[in-house]
Amino acid sequence: MIRLGILLSGRGSNFVAIANNIASGKLRAQIAIVISNFEDAGGIASAKARGLPTLVLPSKGQKRLEHDRAVVEALRGANVELVVLAGYLRLLSPWFVQQFPGKILNIHPSLLPAFPGLEAQRQALEYGVQYSGCTVHFVDEHLDHGPIVLQRAVPVLPSDDVHTLAERILIQEHLAYSEAIAIIAAANYRIEGRRVLQSAGRKPRP
Ligand code: GRF
Repeated sequence: MIRLGILLSGRGSNFVAIANNIASGKLRAQIAIVISNFEDAGGIASAKARGLPTLVLPSKGQKRLEHDRAVVEALRGANVELVVLAGYLRLLSPWFVQQFPGKILNIHPSLLPAFPGLEAQRQALEYGVQYSGCTVHFVDEHLDHGPIVLQRAVPVLPSDDVHTLAERILIQEHLAYSEAIAIIAAANYRIEGRRVLQSAGRKPRP
């Protein structure tokens, strides 16, 4: 079973959705470690309550590469095969990305390439788009940029504010992340250019 390393900085609702799907047997995967750069991250408390291995590696005042080295060491120590960024408020160094080639996922609350970066829901609302959503993508050296594994769209309603739009998108995030992890876990895809194409039927031979 694929071993996941979850990185988070906040409340961790995406992590909880993944953990719930694993617990209920909907997703075949194992959470090897949950790492946060903030001690008071809600996601760390949830992970502890579930009896999962957790680690806090504070990033404040640390050089990016030094912090990344410590995180990678912990991921390796836990034999992580797929790194899952779940609200991890830190840009990974190119060195980190190279340690897990094609094996780091992120979720972003917009239909990329629209509205990368912070406050994606506010950006979408202010721009006036009529649809937004979420994107699960591979992580590369650039912010919110790597090949897209899957997207889910939601309408933006005239009555929306940032809060209601974020809530509607979050419901889809919680579905999309486990779905994407299942695709990667089954090695049921190939990447052509920027396109992640799911291969129907059997797993490709190694
Ligand atoms: C989500 O909106 C995710 O798309 C973004 O950060 C937020 C994390 O939320 N990358 P949570 O901590 O998983 O609840």
